[in-house]
Amino acid sequence: MNETTRKIAILSSGGDAPGMNAAIRAAVRSGLGRDCKMVGVLHGYQGLIEGEMQELELRSVSDIIHRGGTTLYTARSDEFLTEEGKQKALRNLKAHGADALIVIGGDGSFRGALELARRGVKVVGIPGTIDNDIACSEYTIGFDTAMNTVIEMVDRLRDTAQSHERCSVIEVMGRRCGNLALSAGIATGATAVLVPEMAFDFETDILERIAYTRSIGKRHFIILVSEGVFKEENSRFSSSAEMSAAIAEASGIATRTTVLGHVQRGGSPTAKDRIIASEMGYLAAELLATDRGNRILAVRDGKVCDLDVEEALAAEREFDYALYRMSQGISL
Ligand code: F6P
Repeated sequence: MNETTRKIAILSSGGDAPGMNAAIRAAVRSGLGRDCKMVGVLHGYQGLIEGEMQELELRSVSDIIHRGGTTLYTARSDEFLTEEGKQKALRNLKAHGADALIVIGGDGSFRGALELARRGVKVVGIPGTIDNDIACSEYTIGFDTAMNTVIEMVDRLRDTAQSHERCSVIEVMGRRCGNLALSAGIATGATAVLVPEMAFDFETDILERIAYTRSIGKRHFIILVSEGVFKEENSRFSSSAEMSAAIAEASGIATRTTVLGHVQRGGSPTAKDRIIASEMGYLAAELLATDRGNRILAVRDGKVCDLDVEEALAAEREFDYALYRMSQGISL
């Protein structure tokens, strides 16, 4: 397929994730290397509506590969959900001579890209979110960095929980997805892991687990919980702090709560995030330069590939129950 000279816009959208900058850098350099012009859109879809666009050169993306966050800024746009907002975005793309767009973000961002694809823009989506919750892909940029940040924090909290023989309840991000809690739970040997995908029983899954592991010699306890657990309608507790208080009262074990919060979203990307982001950024611009649009990039069988956007968004996310059972089986 021939490469065509075109203008490719690029934006990041939704929650930021470490590695987004590496993807931006790779896309810009891949596009420029194929004689395309590259335009950065600031503040995601909202910036597209407001025409916050600037041409990017080779040096515009220097010195960012190692930086967390996104140099293009990011936002969540309610206006883009309206038809008028979409039309404004389309007009701005056209005014800048861009007929192709790379979107780095999560599921919601891809749905926005699909709307533009249906209106004639050639789009490519790059999965970037610390949640690793995009059904069509085994991996999303930022997950590895966030997971390692959580592990570092839990290791620190374990030191103090061990010294005082306490229970440490640690809340991690994941509104609808427990992948971060599960992976970090395995890596830190958490006594219990609570995720939004699975209902939990306070007595059986927490109190009995603490009592049993205590009876076989455990002296401190780590409970790792996804924030989404408390957003479930049927959740018995409204917060980690409330659950901690109930654990302390029922077990008599001094319990402390830590909500890790946005510290999980920042920081220099790991090697894995830099490399996958670079591969994806490179491929995204290559696809658009060779007139192949409406693709979502994914990792499948460990390799970066591209999928049809409609097909990719129709995929349903599956929680890894076997991995969950394994984690519980060995954290005694
Ligand atoms: O989508 C990633 C995520 O980190 C979720 O896990 C979390 O619930 C959400 O973003 C919080 O985003 P913000 O505070 O930026 O609205």
